[in-house]
Amino acid sequence: MGKAIGIDLGTTNSCAAIVENGRPRVITYKGGQSTIPSVFAIDEKGERLVGHDAKKQAQLNPTNTVAAAKRLIGRNYHSKTIEKVKQVFTYELVEGESSEVLIKVRDQIFTLEQISSAILRKIREVAEESLGAEVDQAVITVPAYFNDRQRQAVRAAGKLAGLKVLRVLNEPTAAALAYGLGKNLNQRIAVYDLGGGTFDISVIDIKERIFEVIATGGDTFLGGVDFDDRIMQWVLETFQKQHGIDLSYDRVAIQRIRDAAETAKIELSSVMRTRLHIQYIAKGENGNGIDIDIELTRERLEELCSDLVERTIQTVERIFREAGTTRQQIDEVLLVGGQSRMPLVQRRITEFMGKSPSKGVHPDEAVGIGASIMANSLAAAHSNDDVTLLDVLPMPIGINKVNGEMHVLFNKNQPLPDYKSRTLTTSKDNQRSIMLRIYQGEALLCADNELLGTFVFSNIRPALKGKVQIEVTFHIDSEGILNLTARDKQTGQTVESTLKLGKQGDEKGKKEEGDSPAPSAPAAPTAPVAFTMPQSSMAASIGGDQPQTEPPASLTAPETPRAETTKTENRAETTKTERAPAAPAATKAPETSAAPPAAEAPSLWAKVGGWFKGLFGGG
Ligand SMILES: Nc1ncnc2c1ncn2[C@@H]1O[C@H](COP(=O)(O)OP(=O)(O)OP(=O)(O)O)[C@@H](O)[C@H]1O
Ligand SMILES: [Mg+2]
Repeated sequence: MGKAIGIDLGTTNSCAAIVENGRPRVITYKGGQSTIPSVFAIDEKGERLVGHDAKKQAQLNPTNTVAAAKRLIGRNYHSKTIEKVKQVFTYELVEGESSEVLIKVRDQIFTLEQISSAILRKIREVAEESLGAEVDQAVITVPAYFNDRQRQAVRAAGKLAGLKVLRVLNEPTAAALAYGLGKNLNQRIAVYDLGGGTFDISVIDIKERIFEVIATGGDTFLGGVDFDDRIMQWVLETFQKQHGIDLSYDRVAIQRIRDAAETAKIELSSVMRTRLHIQYIAKGENGNGIDIDIELTRERLEELCSDLVERTIQTVERIFREAGTTRQQIDEVLLVGGQSRMPLVQRRITEFMGKSPSKGVHPDEAVGIGASIMANSLAAAHSNDDVTLLDVLPMPIGINKVNGEMHVLFNKNQPLPDYKSRTLTTSKDNQRSIMLRIYQGEALLCADNELLGTFVFSNIRPALKGKVQIEVTFHIDSEGILNLTARDKQTGQTVESTLKLGKQGDEKGKKEEGDSPAPSAPAAPTAPVAFTMPQSSMAASIGGDQPQTEPPASLTAPETPRAETTKTENRAETTKTERAPAAPAATKAPETSAAPPAAEAPSLWAKVGGWFKGLFGGG
């Protein structure tokens, strides 16, 4: 058995750590560095580069260098967020078969899982070199605000890199572990994590070895790169004023300015003024080279970026409200993520909280260290390393109503794991399939949330309308990943279900929904299908790392939970006893008659009965 490490898979930098002899430490590489740039590239010779090698050549090869891919992972190509980044990213994004985002690098197409797996593989290699031992297991961290699809994608990337992913852990929880484990604390802390691409804020209660997340939230599109962009825009405008030349169409120039902007920004965390000097950025009318040579002060930087910092403060306020906590009840604020080193951030947090942030964790290493503690705890044979984590769902998950609004199945900040059951029925005689779309997000309308996928329940037993009752059980595990199972209530048989992602899935689903009934033998029982990102078919057909194909993790249908049953068992999840799918509360199964479930949960059915009809093809 190889070693288990913790990996902080960052937007800009990734870092790995390990617990040895009971002590966690960051793994350092040859040059003494503790982080690897999360960058992937293919050079003109067709060679794949990852990490420092890829970052070094980014300026000269911007269209074939993939940076900040974490911002795209698990996203739908048609989402608003992708529209936004297409304008600023120097590499090409293309749409996949299921509306997922793919990346084109030198005429090769890669999935986001493949790009992330290349980075994870590199981390694994350098860790193995540094440790002189095989590494084959890892805990990988993700922003707390990642949705189900994004988490699945990170898991898939880990697997592609040949790692057994012991757990996908939230970054703030990892930071809290690094801060609080082994100190016998009894504290409420806030973790403010402003990294390269994402902002997260979490309120966490620590009681000795129990870490309970009370509320979490953030912005997957707010981080250091936005600060760099502000400087870059300012440089472009200033240069155009000075020389009448618009550099915004020159990808090489953009990459060079972006790099200089980041360097200046970091310098301004310790000095008051600096110069951005980039030689030969453009050619003048007389053929001579023109340089960029501009002074940037800390004051100007703060002006350019103050609204970004304010946005984080507003999110902190909102999350505190959601957590039902006051600022005074927070014992410590941990600042993590490289961008939290900016003096303006520290000042605003100090003002807002009325106290200085904790010095207890290293902003760059805390997440990786916490991940390694978790990895050690999950992989270790002895039990005195046990940690108990209680996490919450970052964003509501729900299904669509006829009026386009989202019917929330699982609420934001509700404890994990959990499950819910819903009974669906046919609305036409001999209807053979039923479709269900699942969304995640905080917006009222489904269209403004992320479509997690479209489920089609097919081969339904032919019967008069309303006579078949399909009980669907939605289960979210302790990592926030959703699984689905369905069974025919009368026969007890599992109903065949297939997941279709994204736009095309929708269209297909719509067609199937209207399928005319073909009276044939009743559906054969099939294995339950888990709600899992399909990552294999694409990867296999387009070159790149071969995925390990394995059937999607499935969940045996819990015993006949009734409509709107909520799990009542203790949510505590210790690392040693990784929770089995939550068993439903021991409520008696409803009778198998076709009577409307309204009798079981009138208030719910009064509310949703109508729209279920519309959802499944009219009345
Ligand atoms: N001293 C500093 N002052 C200001 N910003 C800094 C400083 N050092 C690093 N940064 C910025 O921090 C960001 C990187 O932070 P970090 O390495 O924590 O992010 P990440 O883990 O890659 O991203 P994420 O956690 O968002 O996925 C970069 O934008 C970098 O410019
Ligand atoms: Mg980070």
